[in-house]
Amino acid sequence: MLKKSFIALLLTLAVLIIGLNTWGALTLGHLTPDPGAVRQPGANRVVMVFGATGSVGDGLLKAAMQDPEVEQIYAVTRRLSPRLEAGQASGRVTVLLHEDFTRYQGMEDILARVNTVMWGLGTSSIGMDPELYRRIHVDFPTAFVSAWLAARTRGPMAFHYVTGMGTGENESAEWARDKGRAERLVAEMAEGTGLRSFGHRSAWIRPTAENAHWGIYLLERLLRPGHLVIRGTDLGRAMLEISARPGELANGTLIDNRDALEYAAAYRQHAGR
Ligand SMILES: NC(=O)c1ccc[n+]([C@@H]2O[C@H](COP(=O)([O-])OP(=O)(O)OC[C@H]3O[C@@H](n4cnc5c(N)ncnc54)[C@H](OP(=O)(O)O)[C@@H]3O)[C@@H](O)[C@H]2O)c1
Repeated sequence: MLKKSFIALLLTLAVLIIGLNTWGALTLGHLTPDPGAVRQPGANRVVMVFGATGSVGDGLLKAAMQDPEVEQIYAVTRRLSPRLEAGQASGRVTVLLHEDFTRYQGMEDILARVNTVMWGLGTSSIGMDPELYRRIHVDFPTAFVSAWLAARTRGPMAFHYVTGMGTGENESAEWARDKGRAERLVAEMAEGTGLRSFGHRSAWIRPTAENAHWGIYLLERLLRPGHLVIRGTDLGRAMLEISARPGELANGTLIDNRDALEYAAAYRQHAGR
């Protein structure tokens, strides 16, 4: 009896994974990096990372730290992480301890120099008060972009918001509508300025190697055929590559998981790794 239940569970999981991968392979991927794209020198000279203590942000920070074209990294955060501590100790990262993510007074001089923002700040909607969820995922990024645009209006500037797969203003889930609205509001604020904003509708973002274990690597293998997984570091590389190509993707472009994988591959090709 127990053996039969176990086999039934395995079969259900297999069908689910095959179904998900088939759906991903058939529907994801709308953008193709231009092999002849002109890259703008200095487009990623100064990078600012939000959410660096989290699973996604740790990968974004790692990608920025590994990029020789990134000269200066600022992390705006409530607390430190091992990578932030190491980055701070090596002089690679400047940590800006911050509490209220709706206010950026006193940061103007730094914001005036920032080229690329990687926004990995966010949290699960499960069990969260909808008002607080909206504050974190709509008010925080829009307040930041407003402050950034007040301090700097000249490109190159790119804002990369990790919203997630399923985001959309017409979706039934409240979290999806909130994040979709945030994507639109930020793109509207950026219109006509030197800023381009992007919503990254990523699927599963694999944590950095320092935070991974065998189960995570197994899941990565299972989801790879449908382009349903991206490493946090690769998402960061995709952001850097998109920022470096100012003539390619317009303000407000939505990046799905397969698109980001393509731009990460273009980054690696350019970087020779
Ligand atoms: N993980 C994935 O596979 C995945 C896939 C698609 C989209 N996303 C999206 O990416 C975002 C980050 O996900 P994650 O998995 O990295 O989450 P996580 O590990 O829980 O990290 C959340 C990050 O956001 C910060 N944060 C959360 N609430 C905050 C608040 N009220 N004020 C200031 N900072 C706050 C946290 O800072 P503290 O350390 O100070 O709490 C931390 O740096 C979420 O919006 C998520 O939906 C994730």
